[in-house]
Amino acid sequence: MELDNVTRPVGQAQPLSDEDRRFLRELVETNRIEHHGRLSYMDIMFDLEHRYGNSLPGPVLGEVARLVGTSPAQLNGFVTFYTMLSTAPRGKHVVRVCTSGPCHVSGAPAILSSLRQLLGVGIGETTPDGEFTLEGSSCLGICGVSPALMIDDDAYGNLTPEDLPRILDTKRAGGAQ
Ligand code: FES
Repeated sequence: MELDNVTRPVGQAQPLSDEDRRFLRELVETNRIEHHGRLSYMDIMFDLEHRYGNSLPGPVLGEVARLVGTSPAQLNGFVTFYTMLSTAPRGKHVVRVCTSGPCHVSGAPAILSSLRQLLGVGIGETTPDGEFTLEGSSCLGICGVSPALMIDDDAYGNLTPEDLPRILDTKRAGGAQ
């Protein structure tokens, strides 16, 4: 993918551990091999989020930019283009509620309102125990089962507010459904 849309710099000086550097070097090399000499930036970002607590720290992005041969600003432009990626710290689980048209008319506002109440946080905030970050999202691609949300990589559809406590409890306990 083309890297453009520079918005703000990342990768400011902050020492990474030797283990971090080794991990990042191996991650980029493995990604290049898996994609036959090319790179999938999105796969790299998802792997980084898994390692770094659902966020993409600036120093890590700076090192990745160096490894892939681009500038931190260009890589930051890529990251900030996609709302599912974040350079800000997030919770252990990211709850993304679709707020696009089909979900909106089929109940997303009630879902969002219930989640705010259940989690005690607003959009873009993380619960004090660090378990959940609540986010709004554009279409998740599962409009046929609206209203819908995703928690991490798991999708949930045909939701009612009554479904939410069970879903959150299961996630808290480490399950998918
Ligand atoms: S509009 Fe909500 S998943 Fe597409």
